[in-house]
Formats: sequence, structure tokens, C-alpha cells
Amino acid sequence: MKNNLPLIPYPNEVKIFENKSDINFSEISFERQENNFEKDEYEIEIKKGKITVNFSEKQGKFYAKKTLEQLKNSGEKIPDCIIKDKPQFSHRGFMLDPCRHFLTVDEIKKVIDAAAYLKMNVFHFHLSDDQGFRIESKKFPLLNEVGSHRKNSLFGGTNEGKPHSGFFTQEEIRDIVSYCEERYIDVIPEIDLPGHTMAIIASYPELSCEKKQIDVCMKHGIFDDILCAGNEKVYEFIFELLDEIIPLFPSEYFHIGGDEVPKTKWKNCEDCRKKIKEENLENFHQLQGYFMNRIAEYLRTKNKTPIMWNDTLKSGKINPEATVIQHWLHNKKIMENFIKDGGKYIESDFFHFYSDYPYHMTPLKKVYSFSAEKTKNLLGVETPAWSEYIRDFNKLSFMLFPRICAVAEIGWTKNENKSYNRFYENLKNLYPYFKSKGINPADLEYVNPNPLKRLVCTIKYWCSKR
Ligand code: ACM
Ligand code: ZN
Repeated sequence: MKNNLPLIPYPNEVKIFENKSDINFSEISFERQENNFEKDEYEIEIKKGKITVNFSEKQGKFYAKKTLEQLKNSGEKIPDCIIKDKPQFSHRGFMLDPCRHFLTVDEIKKVIDAAAYLKMNVFHFHLSDDQGFRIESKKFPLLNEVGSHRKNSLFGGTNEGKPHSGFFTQEEIRDIVSYCEERYIDVIPEIDLPGHTMAIIASYPELSCEKKQIDVCMKHGIFDDILCAGNEKVYEFIFELLDEIIPLFPSEYFHIGGDEVPKTKWKNCEDCRKKIKEENLENFHQLQGYFMNRIAEYLRTKNKTPIMWNDTLKSGKINPEATVIQHWLHNKKIMENFIKDGGKYIESDFFHFYSDYPYHMTPLKKVYSFSAEKTKNLLGVETPAWSEYIRDFNKLSFMLFPRICAVAEIGWTKNENKSYNRFYENLKNLYPYFKSKGINPADLEYVNPNPLKRLVCTIKYWCSKR
């Protein structure tokens, strides 16, 4: 008898019996139990081909249905069993970046469907970066007229030789949010501040230190042109922009970036230097802390919890009680201190969860090997798919799938219940579903290159045009 069920993420409690009967998946007895189950929790009993589902909340019922869908779609003969299940973490996310290369609403919905199939519950929507501003603003129309277009794309030395444009109308954003709501997926918007803002500055140059006209960025990387932290008009602009964007997203959270902020322009700006003096700050890292805290405080007045990339912790000024940190790289000691002070965080470790890096750098097995121990500080895990080198949906499918499945299982299944061999075996059952959604995942033979090949490919990758 096979002692596993064809499920990803794997449930946390499974009892399998000897008996196998034909199951009627269209006749399910849903039995709501008042207050017996946690929000996301459910129980499925399959006995002599009859299915009974117990749950308390609609989320639990939804996840039970996803489990049953996977069992049915596997085409396998399912034995009698009892599944008692709930997720390990409350944040099981994926991040899409339509700034570097735009995605259509339909393409995004395909990923949302697949993520829901994997019981993921957070879509982190990266909406503003150097290379494009991707959400409609009626208050600041130049953000779209100027900031949503770039003249060319020269990422990694590849000259695409054509302009690149696009933004989501507010109507489209509402459509995406409601599509997610139907699937119990929270949409967390990100407006990356104060760095990664060349598209904003190209639209409104007066928001930078030098106030010079620049182009929407056409390359990949980290750039010196950032918002001025010494100019009160910048804060007024951001607050007004947030006032416009916040009502579109019911999420408790709002991501304000804070990653990769070179201080070059601030160091040469009279207003920024004056702000440091006025606020008794010691250095430009603290000025970034001051900047982020002002935006964070504004968000809190709107009942939003700010999320920031871990780079912001360098300022030593971030309030651990009222800010969530998304960890991606470096800052081990600083992260430890933040956690010791009670700070909550989301894990997006660069070496395991960045789905935009090639499989020879981040093989599937390596993603899966990440050990996420449940603590009161760790909200969960998230896989970002940055799109400098993901130029179309086909490539996105290939890079994100199947690695997103590993992240989904890490987010849902306790460490002691994980098994790479079972996970790998079960992946085969998901491929027909993904393909039916128009998603073409990387071939399972391809996702774990051997170590020598990995090394050679990694060296070639860093030396190549991408
Ligand atoms: C990041 O990858 N810059 C957060
Ligand atoms: Zn300045």
C-alpha cells in the first residue's frame, strides 16, 4: 500500500486505511461545526467512497475543497483516510513584479489560481520601481503618462530595442483584489520607497534632491536617484498617493519597500543635511529610518501595518512592535536583534526563495530544504519573482513553477511532516492542472541540475548577457 496521498502542500495529520473504494467526488457532505475548528482548519474523512468534510469557517471549507480537487485530479485510487489539517504559517506568499516586465490581468489571474490550488494566501504586488510605475493614479496623472513607459529595456546587457509600457487601471486592481478575495488571498501592494523610484522621479523631478529631469530607468541595478528625504513636499506627495491607493486594497498590510537605498544624493543635498540636523540624526542610515518611520506612522493612522525589506533595519530606528520586516538578504545580526525585540517578519531568503534566479543556482531541492521553524515572530514565507530577466509569462511560468510549490509546502506543512521524495513524487500530479491553466512549469528533469553542472552554469550565468 502506498502510504502517502497525492497532495501539495501535504496535510499535517493523515491517517490512511487499507480499504480503497470508488469515490464520488461530486457528493460531498459538508458539515459546519460551530467554533470547533480554527479559521483555516478542516477535516476530511473518506470512508467506503463517501466524503465528509468538517470545518467551522469558510476558509477551512475552501482549503478542504482544494485538497479534494487535488485528490480527484490526481486520477489515483484514493484509499479511505482521515485528514486533519491546518497551516503552519499565516503568510504563504508569492510576489510578482510587473514593473520590469509588465503582466496582464489574465496572466496574473493564472498565477493566482495556481497559488490558491497550493493553499497560498498572500499575493505581494510590487507596483512601483525604477523601471515603471504600474498603478493608475488620478491625482498624479504623470505617474502614468510618464512613469508607466520606458523607451527601451537593457537589462543584463540585452537590448530589447523597443519601448515598454503598462499600468493597471484602478478598475483592474479592484478586479484582481476581488478575484483574490474569492480565493482567500490577501493582496499586499508595494510602493517601493525612497529608493527604486526613478519612474516617480521621471514623472515629478521636483521630488528628488537635484530636481533634474531623468528618464524612466531602462537598466537593472541599484540607482542613486531616490526621493529627497529633506523636502516636506515629498512627504505630502506620498501621503496623497497613499490616500488614493489604500482604499483599493483591503489588506491589513501595506509594503513600502525600503531596500537598496544609496545615500549619494542625500549626502550632497542641502535639504537632506538640514533634516539630519533638525531631527538630531547621526547619519544617513538614520535619515532613511526617519523617512520610513514617517510613512509607516501615516499608514498606521489608516489602520495599516507597514511592511519593509530588511535593509531598513540598518537605520536602528524601526519600531519592532508596529512594523513587519521582509527578510531577503544580509543583516543577520540586525535581524536577530529585531526578532529579540519582538519584531515580526516574513522570510524570503535570497538563496532559497528568489524564483527569478536560475535552477542551477536555486534548485528545487534547495528551495524545499529551507527549514522554517514556527516561532511567534515568523509570520511565514514568500517567494519573489523579480522580472528583470523574466520577459514574458512563459518564462515566469518556467521560473516560478515548480519552485512556488516548495514554498507553498514550507508555508503550510510543519517541518516534521515534510519529505522531499514525497513532494517530488506528488509534483507530477500537479503538472496537468498547471498546464490546463496555461502555465508551463520547468521540466522535473531540469529542476535539480547536478553539482558540477550547477557550478559551471552559475559561473557562465554571472559572466553572460541575460
Ligand atoms: C530586493 O530584492 N531588492 C528586495
Ligand atoms: Zn535631498
